[in-house]
Amino acid sequence: MQVLTGKEIRQKFIKFFEEKGHTHVASSSLVPYNDPTLLFSNAGMNQFKDVFLGLEKRNYTRATTSQKCVRAGGKHNDLDTVGRTARHHTFFEMLGNFSFGDYFKHESLAWSWEFLTSPEWVGLEPELLYPSVYEHDDEAYDIWINEIGVPKERVVKLGKSDNFWEHGSGPCGPCSEIYYDRGVEKGCGKPDCAPGCDCDRFMEVWNNVFSQFNNDGEGNYTDLVQKNIDTGMGLERLACVSQCVDSLFDVDTVMNITNKVSEITGATYGKSHKMDVSLRVITDHIRSATFMIGDGILPSNEGRGYVLRRLLRRDARHGKLLGVNEPFLYKVCDMVIHENKGAYPDLADKQDYITRVIKVEEENFAKTIDTGLRILNELVDSHKSKGETMFSGEDAFKLYDTYGFPLDLTQDILEEQGMTVDEAAFTKLMEEQKERARAARGDMSNAWQGLDLGLDNTPTAFTGYDHEEDGGTI
Ligand code: GLY
Repeated sequence: MQVLTGKEIRQKFIKFFEEKGHTHVASSSLVPYNDPTLLFSNAGMNQFKDVFLGLEKRNYTRATTSQKCVRAGGKHNDLDTVGRTARHHTFFEMLGNFSFGDYFKHESLAWSWEFLTSPEWVGLEPELLYPSVYEHDDEAYDIWINEIGVPKERVVKLGKSDNFWEHGSGPCGPCSEIYYDRGVEKGCGKPDCAPGCDCDRFMEVWNNVFSQFNNDGEGNYTDLVQKNIDTGMGLERLACVSQCVDSLFDVDTVMNITNKVSEITGATYGKSHKMDVSLRVITDHIRSATFMIGDGILPSNEGRGYVLRRLLRRDARHGKLLGVNEPFLYKVCDMVIHENKGAYPDLADKQDYITRVIKVEEENFAKTIDTGLRILNELVDSHKSKGETMFSGEDAFKLYDTYGFPLDLTQDILEEQGMTVDEAAFTKLMEEQKERARAARGDMSNAWQGLDLGLDNTPTAFTGYDHEEDGGTI
């Protein structure tokens, strides 16, 4: 096996598929275009949904991409697991090859095997690779064994939860994954530990999706007009295997960011589990935040902006745990940009802007975090002295509303104290507040209607073709 950097893996993957007749297409934005079913781009196929559906034609039928992805918030919420396991990130890069009604299972499976095992490309040990197939997909099973030559005992059949790929509505289908066995010492030790197990031994490095159905969002499946291939290979996962490191956080491009966090905070990676979790959370979340802001998302109290705010505030709190009492994330984001500007040059163009947004958000939260944490700790003590393990929803709401503590931040802190929040009460107060805000907005618009602004309603003329500057009246 070769030791490959993240950058080398990306380059090799794209080159391999270009040689197989694929067009290299740029990553799409993290904000999905025209797709209300998704909060963030979370797979390489997002930008090709209409091509899979046959609604859009491109001048190529094979594509390859390196796609920036975020899985956080909404249904695909990886926030809680980040930092605690070897294989969860909120931000990751997904390398993919796609066929739009062109090649199908035979080529896709053969090429994934060739790329992973050939010494010219990645050179993983074939005997450590375990393909899985959807339990009813006899065709894929047969290809692995009789065409590619993988011994029968290493091809596993799994059910729909593992081997049927779909995220929201749209193109989907059975899939065939490839797992790498990282050794028994990485495993859970259970007698039935095998590919598909939730522990860190068998790491999924590749997913071949045979995209042949459309899910209407209600769980009704119809055949697509054409059969497609949609693959996903996690760049950081393959780097983790190739570099023989413990976790996704230890791969070169990610570790350089953690090192920067260590340099600023003085915390040493690998010294204690608690410190490592904080370093990993900060590293992961600042990667997501940097890319999100680069794609035009701003911290706010709703939707994508709220996920961004939650990431940055969780980071700020983990900074506190490491003893940092001033804004620091904006300095780490420079390192994120440095590590990624080769593949995503627009990050460098927006460096000043991204840094400023992060700094302002950090400064705003810094004004309330200390008071919020003090109150939270006092309330925890008071609950504990009464033997209570449920934190009141009213208090969690006050922490949110007055001190800017997103619920999951409060929950994170409480979890460490063995407590939970009365979420139903919190949600009720949140809904009531939203209702009040909606009503207030309604009143404001009525008030505007009653004002005579003396406007002449002349439409604004666009003069930008002839003038670089022009006057106007507001
Ligand atoms: N769309 C394939 C994957 O994300 O695994």
